[in-house]
Amino acid sequence: MIKAPADICPLCEGTGWKTLPALPDAPKDRRVTRCECQLRARTQSLLGAARIPRRYEHCELSSFSAGYPGANPSLALAHISASRFAQEYDPRDGRGLLIVGEIGTGKTHLAVGIIKDMILNQGVSCVFYDYRELLKEIQNSYNATVQTTELDVLRPVFETDVLVLDELGAVKPTEWVGDTVSLILNSRYNHDRATIITTNLPNLPPGKYSNNLAPTSKEAAEQSVQEKTLGDRIGEPMRSRLHEMCRIVTMKGADFRQRGKNATGR
Ligand SMILES: Nc1ncnc2c1ncn2[C@@H]1O[C@H](COP(=O)(O)OP(=O)(O)OP(=O)(O)O)[C@@H](O)[C@H]1O
Ligand SMILES: [Mg+2]
Ligand SMILES: [Zn+2]
Repeated sequence: MIKAPADICPLCEGTGWKTLPALPDAPKDRRVTRCECQLRARTQSLLGAARIPRRYEHCELSSFSAGYPGANPSLALAHISASRFAQEYDPRDGRGLLIVGEIGTGKTHLAVGIIKDMILNQGVSCVFYDYRELLKEIQNSYNATVQTTELDVLRPVFETDVLVLDELGAVKPTEWVGDTVSLILNSRYNHDRATIITTNLPNLPPGKYSNNLAPTSKEAAEQSVQEKTLGDRIGEPMRSRLHEMCRIVTMKGADFRQRGKNATGR
C-alpha cells in the first residue's frame, strides 16, 4: 500500500531513522537514531495487544487517590508498592504482585495502572486477563467449530513480559481449572516472567474462612459453608506457590464505588 503524504512521518520521511547533528570531530559522519514515530507505533501496538477492558481504560497509577478523607492507610501503601513495581521492573526477576483485598478497594485499578505505565514508559509487553474470561476462552478453543487452538489463547499468556490475572479463584474449582491455572502460573514462574494477580478472596488456607461473627453463632456456621478462601479455590499448594512468586499487597477499606453513598473508609 502506498502511503498518503500526510501519513509519512516528517521527521524521518518514513524510514524510521532520523538524522542526528554531526559531531564536531567527525563532521562528515552521518549519525542516525530511531525516530519517535517508531516508538509511538510500538506503544500503540503494545496497548492494543494488552486487552485492557474498556471499563478499566481510565485506570492510571496517577489517578489512584489514596489520600481522600477516611481512606484506609493500606491504600497508600498499595499505591507505593504498585508504583515501585512498575519503576523497578527487572525482566530477569519473575516476582510479581498478589493484590488481595475486599470488593471495590481498587485492586484492578492498580493492576491496570501498572501495566499501562510499563507499556508507555518502558515498552514492556503486558496482557490483562480476567480469570473467568481466560478459562472460558481456553475451554472454547476445544470446540471443534472454533478456529482458535488452545495454544493460540495460551501463547500470549505464557510469553508476555507481564501478565495480569484479575480475580483469581473467581470460578468453582474443578480438576481441569486447577491443572490449567497451575500450568499457567508455573510456566510463567519457571521462565522468570512476572504475574500480577488480584483476588477478593481471603488469602487463607482451605477451610479457614473467618469473619467478624462470633464463631459459635448460627450466622457464622452458615457463612463458613458458603464463603471461600483463596486456598479453597486454587488449592493450598498453588496458594503457597503464589507466596514465592509474588509480593503480597493488601488493600482494605470500603467499596470505592459506594463512596459518597456511605463514606466510612473503615
Ligand atoms: N483509590 C482510588 N482512586 C481512584 N479510583 C478508584 C480508587 N479505588 C477504586 N477506584 C475506582 O473505582 C472503581 C472500582 O475499583 P476496582 O475495580 O479497581 O476495584 P476492585 O478492588 O478491583 O473491585 P472488585 O473486588 O469488585 O474487583 C474503578 O472504576 C476504579 O477506577
Ligand atoms: Mg477487580
Ligand atoms: Zn518518523
